[in-house]
This record gives sequence, structure tokens and C-alpha cells, in this order.
Amino acid sequence: FGPVETNRTERRLARAASVHDLRRMARRRLPGGVFDYIDGAAEDEHTLAANERAYAAVTFRPRVLRGLPEVSIGTEILGAPAAYPLVLAPTGFTRIADPRGELAVARAAARAGLPYTLSTLSTRSIEEVRAVSDGRLWFQVYAWRDRGLVKEMIERAAAARYEAIVLTVDTAVFGRRERDVRRGFSLPPTIGPGTILDGMLHPGWTWQFVRSEPIRFSNVAGRDVGDGASPVTLSDYINTQFDPGLSWADLTWLRSVWDGRIVVKGIQTVADAKLAAEAGVDAIVLSNHGGRQLDGAPATLPLVAPVADAVGGRSEIICDGGVRRGSDIVKAVAAGATAAMAGRAYLYALGAAGERGVDRLLTWFAADVHRTLALLGAAGVADLGRGHIDVPSEPA
Ligand code: FNR
Repeated sequence: FGPVETNRTERRLARAASVHDLRRMARRRLPGGVFDYIDGAAEDEHTLAANERAYAAVTFRPRVLRGLPEVSIGTEILGAPAAYPLVLAPTGFTRIADPRGELAVARAAARAGLPYTLSTLSTRSIEEVRAVSDGRLWFQVYAWRDRGLVKEMIERAAAARYEAIVLTVDTAVFGRRERDVRRGFSLPPTIGPGTILDGMLHPGWTWQFVRSEPIRFSNVAGRDVGDGASPVTLSDYINTQFDPGLSWADLTWLRSVWDGRIVVKGIQTVADAKLAAEAGVDAIVLSNHGGRQLDGAPATLPLVAPVADAVGGRSEIICDGGVRRGSDIVKAVAAGATAAMAGRAYLYALGAAGERGVDRLLTWFAADVHRTLALLGAAGVADLGRGHIDVPSEPA
């Protein structure tokens, strides 16, 4: 990863124009198993494809001659300002895409003026991430069987001025991600014949292996993955650590240990959205985990309008999964979401070109949102409504 590799990355980044280009760069730069862990989803990946297709299927109703000399993209998410309506999703193990991992993404999000959600399964601790960011931070938790561990992490998040706890509820058990099964993807990643071969094919990775510290979860210290010597699969780990008995009653418990905002991530039906709003959550993330859990779960974008009708403003709605451009963010907001949430887009950027890649992506998204509003004839995010789009299919 000397000057030659750096220059090559910079040259490619300068020529990149979209998330698709960053994805291709990441595919070239990362070992196959790492790229597939990020890019892949459960079983036949129907839901992954459906998330993206749902955006492609929405058409705009652009209004012209509206006399709008200025367009503004700023908004509020959970009652505080955001540069535009996007939240960076929690992703476990972000450091496998680039040695700077979560720190790079947190810094880029703060520079862009967007909230960043740190995953429980992160390779940097709650405190390390706060130390590099004075921006808005949310912390994502899973239902660990050991609720004491969850409470401990929540207290640390409060001390480090995280503003929201995001409880992910779509992971009762682990989805079957067949690309990872085929690759034998394990935690921590091991150096085997496959990775050594990849290392030869991908110079960036050799460097990463040699220079970076061992990759471990930072927020579950003392309860780490395996013993470091004998790797475990991610699915074995999760199936032994997570509590499939999580229920609505646990939200009451969460409220008793956390004074800040509560966000529930992984709602996939109108019925559950209603229950979440009745439980008083501040925001509902409509999410199928980017298609990584239940294959066949519905695309999220078509859920936004019916959920907005059912929830009636009691909770904010965040639409997660399949966001690949700023115009997708505009579609989600026009349908009734407060904001969109994106995971893979920034992981591709990170894998393609590190922190500078994420900066570039978030700058593109801002420009996309601005351009899309201008071409739609909308003066700002608050003006967006269902009159701006046609959503072809809505769930029953
Ligand atoms: C995720 N996601 C996720 N969600 C979560 O609540 N906790 C986690 O630790 C992770 N880890 C994770 C790793 C990777 C590699 C990916 C791609 C995703 C899901 C994530 O928060 C989000 O729901 C999806 O990424 C949204 O879909 P897109 O934007 O990737 O299409």
C-alpha cells in the first residue's frame, strides 16, 4: 500500500461517479470473502434485490416553472438538525473494509453533518468513536442474552453523549448468508490459502493484514468472539449470544435504563409499526437488514406510506435498505419518511478508497438531494410529499 497503490486509488476515485463505481472499486480492492460479506445477503438475495428495485420502480412527478431560486436540503431527524435526510446505518465489523473502519465513517459523517450509528458488533469502542467525532452519534444494540452487558453498553453510550439507542429487532436468529457459508467466513478473519491468494491479487489487503491490529469486537470486551485461536462463524456466535425471546416488554426495560431517544430497527409490517408507535418509540426504522435476515421479507420503500398512515406522526419513520443515490433519499422522504438510512453504500466507499471515499459519497448524496429537489420543483425537504412520486405496489 505504498505510494503506487495510493495514487492508483486516488486516480480511480477521481474518475468514480456513483455508488456503482465505488462498489466495483471495492470488489477489485478487497479480498473476495470480505467483499461478499458486505455485498451479500440471505439465501437467494431476493429481498436485497427487491429493496433496490423498489426505488427504481418509483417515478417522480416533476413540477416546473415554480420560481424557486433557492433550494435547501437541511432537515431535522429526532428533533435535531441534519445536513440532509440521511442516517448512516450500523454495520458490524466495519474495519474489514479498511483499517480505519468505524473511526473513518464517524469522522466523515460528522464532517457531512449526518448522524452515524455505531454497531454493537463494531471493532472500535463507544468511547474511541466519540473521541474522533463531535457529531451526532447513535448506538445500536442487539438483544444479548446477557442483559447486564446491554445495560453496561447503554450506560457507556450515555456517558459518551450518544443521543439514541437503536434496538435491532430482526435478528432473533442469524440469517443464512450463503456467500459467507461458501467462503467459510469466520470471526476473527483468518489467514488461509484463500486470503493469501486474495492478498496476492489485491495488494491493498496484504497491507491491511500486515499493518492493522487484530480485528475484534470492542464493545463486548471480555466476552469476545471465540478465543482468537479457533475462529467461530458469525452465525454460530450470534445464535449463542442473542436472545430470540426478545419481546415488546423489553422496550419497557430499555426505557428504564435509558433516558434518551429510542429507535427500533427492523420493523417490516404495518401491524408492528403500530405496536412500536403505541410503545412510544421515537423512531421506527423500516428495515429488513438489507436483505441479510429473512429472504422474502418485503422491500422497505413501499411500506413507508402505509406505515406513515398507521402511525400518524407518533413516531418518526426511517426507511432503510437499497439506498444507492440521493434521489432514493428524496423518494423515501416524499413517501413519508423523516430520513433514509444506508449501509452498503458507505461500506463500498470505505472499501474503495477509505475515509476519502466516504467523504466523496456523502458529498455526492448531498448534491443529488439538492439537484433532485430542484428538478422536482420542491423548495426544501419539508415540501416533499406523496404528490411528488408514484409508488407502484404497496403491501396489503
Ligand atoms: C449490516 N447491518 C447491520 N444492522 C445492525 O443493526 N447491526 C449490525 O451490526 C449490522 N451489520 C451489518 C453489516 C453489513 C456488512 C451490512 C451490509 C449490514 C444492516 C444495516 O444496518 C442496514 O440495515 C443495511 O445495510 C441496509 O441496507 P443497504 O443500505 O446496505 O442496502
